Amino acid sequence: MSNPSLLILPGDGIGPEVMAEVRRIIDWFGDKRGLAFDVSEDLVGGAAYDAHGAPLSDETMARAQDADAVLLGAVGGPKYDTLDFSVKPERGLLRLRKEMDLFANLRPAQCFDALADFSSLKKDVVAGLDIMIVRELTSGVYFGEPRGIIEEGNERVGINTQRYTESEIERVARSAFELAMKRGKKLCSMEKANVMESGVLWREVVTRVGQDYPEVELSHMYADAGAMQLTRWPKQFDVIVTDNLFGDLLSDLAAMLTGSLGMLPSASLGAPMANGRPKALYEPVHGSAPDIAGQGKANPIACILSFAMALRYSFDQGGEAARLEKAVETVLAQGHRTADLLGEEGRAPISTSQMGDAVLEALDASL
Ligand code: NAI
Ligand code: MG
Repeated sequence: MSNPSLLILPGDGIGPEVMAEVRRIIDWFGDKRGLAFDVSEDLVGGAAYDAHGAPLSDETMARAQDADAVLLGAVGGPKYDTLDFSVKPERGLLRLRKEMDLFANLRPAQCFDALADFSSLKKDVVAGLDIMIVRELTSGVYFGEPRGIIEEGNERVGINTQRYTESEIERVARSAFELAMKRGKKLCSMEKANVMESGVLWREVVTRVGQDYPEVELSHMYADAGAMQLTRWPKQFDVIVTDNLFGDLLSDLAAMLTGSLGMLPSASLGAPMANGRPKALYEPVHGSAPDIAGQGKANPIACILSFAMALRYSFDQGGEAARLEKAVETVLAQGHRTADLLGEEGRAPISTSQMGDAVLEALDASL
């Protein structure tokens, strides 16, 4: 059987710098753990525009459709700000998400003990936090019709429509239950069934899908109460599933419980392919960080943890994913800090590649 395939799209700005560290880690798993991937690399965003005049070529799109997983760095930068909207770097990323039909966006909020002081919340509220928000990504109020700004009488009306079909709810619910099975077997679904019909249907469908997962403890919460509970005592949650709009807000809220943008991974999953693996795109939450690009200052951990998510959710290597996450935890506990993790401290930061070195050393020590 051939090795699983991994398409790497470093992109722009700090994308290639953080991805270089991930490449070393991928090689480590090949050499030391016998986990061989067919890795190929291609262009996306401004880098693709510079080469082909489009932020994602049809060839690259086809390779992404065929890959077992896609790992992306970041796209964009001031150099491309004046480009026409149709060829902006971000369009490359949007095309990937849309054509791969990635309907489940996974955003973990994980707090490494060594960084608990970094949070705006009390240390004991966030230390050890490890939750996952699943946001529906391809439907809901951002896409529903009718929409627009119309004239009505002597004033204008802005219109957007929250709309969910049963099948749209069902597929994201299924992704969330599958995830819960791989984690703490606890799922909380959030909507506003008290005031929205789409929420009533959401609750009904999630409950029905839950009958296929009797091991998962399912609960429901109104999304506004959920926001309160997330800031009051986030550790009560394991997996949260919610719609596009509430998920946009709640995932940003949850992510910031734990500190730096340079630490946050994400995954976007679609329907299972013929081999049973979901279509999948893994990427850090941060952008191309033009203010620090090319200076070796970027924190590669968000991208490294995105690869850990790929190991767990695309390649069924939960044990190896945990090994990599543990290595990150170790280097943080040892005090290794890129500039973004130092705040007001007067210490000298380490570089992107030094952080990569430290993670590789911790991986070696884990054997
Ligand atoms: P950004 O995430 O690139 O940067 C925000 C701030 O966080 C900057 O001060 C940056 O230096 C810092 N930062 C981000 N990642 C870091 C890391 N790994 N290590 C250390 N510091 C880090 O967001 P910004 O500045 O709003 O956008 C810059 C460009 O990136 C724009 O062209 C934007 O469109 C694009 N972008 C792309 C995204 C993507 O590819 N998914 C997401 C967000 C923005
Ligand atoms: Mg957002």
